[in-house]
Amino acid sequence: MPNTEILVIGGAGYVGSHFVLHALKQGFSVQVWDNLSTGHRSALKDVRFFEGDLNDRGEFQEHLAGNRYHTIFHFAASCLVGESVSNPAKYYENNVLAAFNMLEAMRRTNHDRVVFSSTCSVYGLPDKLPIREDHAKNPISPYGKTKLAIEWMLEDYGAAYDIRWAALRYFNAAGCEPDDGLGEDHDPETHLIPNVVRHALGLDPKLVIFGNDYPTPDGTCIRDYIHVTDLAEAHVAAMRKLEEVSQIRLNLGTGRGLSNLQVVEGVSRACGRKLGPVFGPRRPGDPPELVADPGEAFRTLQWHPHRSDLDRIVAEVLRWMSDHPGGYSGPP
Ligand SMILES: NC(=O)c1ccc[n+]([C@@H]2O[C@H](COP(=O)([O-])OP(=O)(O)OC[C@H]3O[C@@H](n4cnc5c(N)ncnc54)[C@H](O)[C@@H]3O)[C@@H](O)[C@H]2O)c1
Repeated sequence: MPNTEILVIGGAGYVGSHFVLHALKQGFSVQVWDNLSTGHRSALKDVRFFEGDLNDRGEFQEHLAGNRYHTIFHFAASCLVGESVSNPAKYYENNVLAAFNMLEAMRRTNHDRVVFSSTCSVYGLPDKLPIREDHAKNPISPYGKTKLAIEWMLEDYGAAYDIRWAALRYFNAAGCEPDDGLGEDHDPETHLIPNVVRHALGLDPKLVIFGNDYPTPDGTCIRDYIHVTDLAEAHVAAMRKLEEVSQIRLNLGTGRGLSNLQVVEGVSRACGRKLGPVFGPRRPGDPPELVADPGEAFRTLQWHPHRSDLDRIVAEVLRWMSDHPGGYSGPP
C-alpha cells in the first residue's frame, strides 16, 4: 500500500498534521485540503497543500474529480464543546453540512473509502465504565450530536452507495512530535495538558482546574489520554482493515484514566517544581469520567498505543512549547 495517494482534510490541524507526518513516514503520497481556520500551514512539509473549504462543495468536488485517492481522511471540524452550546449553527454547518458535502462529492466522483475523526462525546454521560462501542449514544453537547449525526450519515451512505468507512472515536488526544517540529497550538486552548505546561513555563499566570467536587477519588475529572501518533497509527490500520470490512466503529483510547490532578502532578514532576492550580466551577457538560474500553480496537486493528505514557507525553509537550512559546506563529 505505500505510494498510495491519500487526501487528508483538516491535515493542518493538531491531530491531522501528526497523521500526515506518520503517513509520509509510512511511504504514502499525501495531499492536504484545509481552510486554515484553526490549522497551521507551517505544520506541513513535503505535501501538496490545497487551501480550500469543505463548505465549498463545488470546489471540493472538482478537486476530487481531478484526482484519484485511495482513501480520504476527514479530520476537519469545529471542536470546542462550549462554543458548540452557544453557537450550534457553526457546528451544524462546519461539521454536519461539511461532512455531507464531502460524502456527496465522494459519491459523485466514485471515491469509496473514508476514515472519520469521531469522538467519545457521542456517548454523553456514561452509565458504565470503561466505555464500550455498544454503550448508548446520548451526546449532551451540540458538538457530540454533530459527530453522531455524521456517523449516521456514514452508515446510510455506506449502505446505499458502497462507501467503506471507519468512525474512530478518540478519547483525549495528547502529546506531539517535537523532533519533527510538530506540537499542539489551539486558540483558545481548552485541552488540559498544554494548559498545564503553559502555566509551568510561565506563559499563563494562572492554572484553573474546572471542578474538584466530582465523584472521583481526588474530586477532579478523569480522562483517557492517547498519544496523537498512536491515533495516527490506528488510522493507517483502519485504512488497511477497510480492505476486508466495509464499516468500522472503534474507540481509540488506552483504557487507563488519569485525573486532572494526576496530570498536574505529572507536569510538576517533569519540571521539578510543584504547581499550584486553583479550582474553578465545573464546566457545563463535563462528565466526571471518560475512559475507553479499547479492546475492540486492539483486536480489530491489531494495534496497541505504545506512546501514551503520561511522562513521555508531558516531556514532549514541554519541549515543543519551550521551543515554540508563541505556537507556530512565532514569539508570544
Ligand atoms: N483533539 C482531541 O482531543 C480530539 C478528541 C476527539 C475528537 N477529535 C476530532 O479530531 C479532529 C481533529 O481535531 P484537532 O484537535 O486536530 O482540531 P484542529 O482544530 O487542530 O484541526 C482541525 C483542522 O480542520 C481544518 N478545518 C476546519 N474546518 C474546515 C473546513 N470547513 N474546510 C477545510 N478545513 C477545515 C482546520 O483549519 C484545522 O486545520 C476533529 O474532527 C475533532 O473533532 C479531536
